[in-house]
Amino acid sequence: AVDRAIRPRRLDDYIGQAAMREQMAIFIQAALARREALDHVLIFGPPGLGKTTLANIIANEMGVSLRQTSGPVLEKAGDLAALLTNLEPRDVLFIDEIHRLSPMVEEVLYPAMEDYQIDIMIGEGPAARSIKLDIPPFTLVGATTRAGLLTSPLRDRFGIVHRLEFYTPEELTQIVTRSAKILGVEISPEGAREIARRSRGTPRIANRLLRRVRDFAEVMADGRVTAEVASKALEMLNVDHNGFDQLDRKLLRTMIEKFEGGPVGLDNIAAAISEERGTIEDVLEPYLIQQGFIMRTPRGRVATRTAYLHFGLEPPKTLNVNE
Ligand code: ADE
Repeated sequence: AVDRAIRPRRLDDYIGQAAMREQMAIFIQAALARREALDHVLIFGPPGLGKTTLANIIANEMGVSLRQTSGPVLEKAGDLAALLTNLEPRDVLFIDEIHRLSPMVEEVLYPAMEDYQIDIMIGEGPAARSIKLDIPPFTLVGATTRAGLLTSPLRDRFGIVHRLEFYTPEELTQIVTRSAKILGVEISPEGAREIARRSRGTPRIANRLLRRVRDFAEVMADGRVTAEVASKALEMLNVDHNGFDQLDRKLLRTMIEKFEGGPVGLDNIAAAISEERGTIEDVLEPYLIQQGFIMRTPRGRVATRTAYLHFGLEPPKTLNVNE
């Protein structure tokens, strides 16, 4: 409930992702002027960077309703058909985890996206036939962690594709400052910056840490979030100076201590830290790679010198990387 309060509702309130914002403002204005549905939008990127927020903003800016579902929830073709036939003209249909649609459901989506039509099968066996049904013009907003997970016929049907990037510490400082204001938390610029620096480039994490730091400030201090209070609270939460949590550190330490820094395959890492391969690939790795702690090589993942230094360990003379 409180999440909704701090989520930006308009494009102008959205911080960061400047290139995406600039493009979306133009596409939305053009669609509005033509009184058409906005073209279908594919958003990809690691969790917590604002995919759902963006879908909501698109609906708000277009002045339409948003219907939300997700890939795994749509089990049968009929589930999607029911949603599509209930839309109002220009509505936004948001499908999260769109890479997890079943092939049968995906088949329904193609003519819906392309021609605002669906083919419905009636009857079974030799008597079965298909009838075409018109549906209202609509905007599909699809979200996924990696574009590579989509089938190419599906990917090709999106007219607008955005990849969300990790946020800079400056952008996250603005987001934390804005959220603190909405939540009524007194925070110093240095306090906001400390939380921002340790949020893995991710607004969802920054907002979560802000709430926990506020708890700490209210109980252990005078309620004001200063840099010192933020730092102590984050230390208690096991969030280190680079913003890595226990799982990030476990991954890095395992690579260094059990696999000599790599190269090591994803499945071996997954088994060693008891995590799912998908979680490692979509949640853990992207930030560690972007920050230069891990490299992907043809022979597997390699921990970089930076990773060794992070733990105060001596990097090996030569990393096992073929460059
Ligand atoms: N809260 C979460 N993500 C945000 C963003 N990109 N801009 C402003 N507030 C946010």
